[in-house]
Amino acid sequence: MTRIIETERLYFRELLNTDVPGIFSLDSDPEVHQYLGNNPIKTIQQAENVIKFIRQQYIDNGVGRLAIIEKETNDFVGWGGFKLITDLTNGRKDYYDLGYRFIKKSWGKGYATESTRAAVEYGFNKLKLPVIYAIADTGNLQSQKVLKKCGFTEKEVFDYGAVPHYWYELLNIQ
Ligand SMILES: CC(C)(COP(=O)(O)OP(=O)(O)OC[C@H]1O[C@@H](n2cnc3c(N)ncnc32)[C@H](O)[C@@H]1OP(=O)(O)O)[C@@H](O)C(=O)NCCC(=O)NCCS
Repeated sequence: MTRIIETERLYFRELLNTDVPGIFSLDSDPEVHQYLGNNPIKTIQQAENVIKFIRQQYIDNGVGRLAIIEKETNDFVGWGGFKLITDLTNGRKDYYDLGYRFIKKSWGKGYATESTRAAVEYGFNKLKLPVIYAIADTGNLQSQKVLKKCGFTEKEVFDYGAVPHYWYELLNIQ
């Protein structure tokens, strides 16, 4: 399977149907979902649907979140990369959102920062995006740190699903 983005310790590839156990482990964890609307999944069928939904975006938009694999173990550790946002969000739509989500045992290793830096580089150089946006719950301090370490600027606070979120921007100024 093609390595779409590669870093020292990780690579990104398309999400596959064989990632169901990984997605279930990720998305059924209430701690992972603490700042994602607090609605973790409960069934394997839901994990299958997550993958189906994302794979449909590859077809429809040519872009979607990608699986992140730890090179050392070949384990699925989470996902990252871009999603085309078509719903009105903080007054914008039809833009590329950068996101990431890691299985708890992979937190605290610098994986979010390492993978996000590489995703930004891919977004600017391969996808030729003029700007990348990201959002984070104002309580999600760890995610705010990741975005700032990767060069994003906090622009404003807005309500997303009735929860205050920061709106982040990173301009392609190369
Ligand atoms: C947000 C989230 C991705 C952050 O993951 P993380 O692993 O804590 O993030 P980082 O990559 O910044 O790594 C964290 C720590 O690893 C440490 N670290 C350990 N080994 C490291 C290494 N080899 N290289 C770099 N950092 C390393 C860093 O010091 C860093 O700590 P610091 O930020 O306090 O300085 C993770 O908590 C998560 O998946 N949460 C649930 C989903 C979510 O909220 N997603 C974001 C929605 S906006």
